[in-house]
Amino acid sequence: MTMKVLVIGGGGREHAIARALSLSEEVILLSVMAKRNPGIASLSSDVLIEKETSIPSVLKFAVSRGADYAVIGPEAPLEAGIVDRLEERGIPCVGPTLKAALLETDKAFCREMMQRHGIPGCPHYRTFYSSGDAIGFIRDYEGDLAIKPIGLTGGKGVRIMGEHMDREGAVAYVRSLGGNVVLEERLVGEEFTLQAFVDGKHIVPMPLVQDHKRAFEGDQGPNTGGMGAYSMPDHSLPFVTDADRGHAFDIMKEVVKVMESAGTPYRGVLYGQFMNTAEGPMVIEFNARFGDPEAMNVLSLLESDFGSIVTKIVSGSLSGNDVRFARKATVCKYLVPDGYPETPRTGEPLTFGTGTEALLYYANVEEKDGVFYTQTSRTLAFVGIGDSLNKAEESAEKAAKSVRGRVRHRSDIGTRALLEKRISHMKELR
Ligand code: AMP
Ligand code: GLY
Repeated sequence: MTMKVLVIGGGGREHAIARALSLSEEVILLSVMAKRNPGIASLSSDVLIEKETSIPSVLKFAVSRGADYAVIGPEAPLEAGIVDRLEERGIPCVGPTLKAALLETDKAFCREMMQRHGIPGCPHYRTFYSSGDAIGFIRDYEGDLAIKPIGLTGGKGVRIMGEHMDREGAVAYVRSLGGNVVLEERLVGEEFTLQAFVDGKHIVPMPLVQDHKRAFEGDQGPNTGGMGAYSMPDHSLPFVTDADRGHAFDIMKEVVKVMESAGTPYRGVLYGQFMNTAEGPMVIEFNARFGDPEAMNVLSLLESDFGSIVTKIVSGSLSGNDVRFARKATVCKYLVPDGYPETPRTGEPLTFGTGTEALLYYANVEEKDGVFYTQTSRTLAFVGIGDSLNKAEESAEKAAKSVRGRVRHRSDIGTRALLEKRISHMKELR
């Protein structure tokens, strides 16, 4: 039986969601996005160009087109309550309700929930709602701190004292935020992402991925939404032991259990970002959705029918048998406009090379008369897939290099050299 699935969002992550859904024979795709993503549009039977947070327009489109389900890509519509509103209209969603999405949209909620329920992996933290108190704490604190605005910041609001700034810089930053911050101990280690499908009760993990937040090679420069990511054929990472991975998954299981018993069951994709420290994995944050770029890594490997995963999530009957990923490596590289993230060069035309095998996911790109132009955000991504990390990296790199125009990418993502650096960093810590 066919099912109409509405995908909300227009970035690289949503292109990956749309592609994976489109491989399902039963799925007819509908989409809503603020700007036309040529990749998603070409897979969709009907498209609404509209801000994802314009709830009345999205509802009208979903109902009039007969959407059976919705999959929500970005966090902004979750925070605007899109799931509650769609479900009121009888359209079940892969994505949490407003209350369950607080895990991401309110960093203070997340930490308090972890602490109250004794969920492991919670760093020492304090929440502040006044500059004076937060600044007093910073001045007295021995050691380094992570400074996090309480609300959503598109992955760009966190600053690390001792890395991006000194103590006085931290004070000035907190003042500029009006004092609404979570301050927490600075964790040292290697980061990894664990995403999972959750149906309210059951949780099924996806392969581990490592993202690269910094703009430039060698992890230099400002934080971005993520410049690219890789995953390994064994679905783990070489600096993460089986025990680490098990602990990280246990933490996420606990979160799902707590949300269920609080009467706000979590349904959708739960994204755990962990710092693997000398003592094991600690939670940097949870997101209430797929990661971007991480969605492109894992969904490019999905062998099971995504449409049927959607129905199982919605009916609360998901099991590990429903979800299978190819045992291959992936390397995702984003092309971004020159000057990104601070002063991106927009409206620059791109030309594509030929003879590349990597999957192409469009993100923030404008198509006019068959020519693609850069916009302000990440432009497009290539995902190389291979039996080894090396092969996947070569494939992604070749494709990324073949694009001509005022764009750049991180050539070091997925390389052996960078991997060795991660492994030796972990060895130093342990
Ligand atoms: P977030 O926006 O929470 O993903 O944070 C952005 C980045 O800040 C993360 O990818 C980490 O690199 C860093 N970060 C966040 N919290 C901490 C922490 N407690 N200790 C060290 N680094 C952190
Ligand atoms: N890649 C990080 C995020 O999606 O938040």
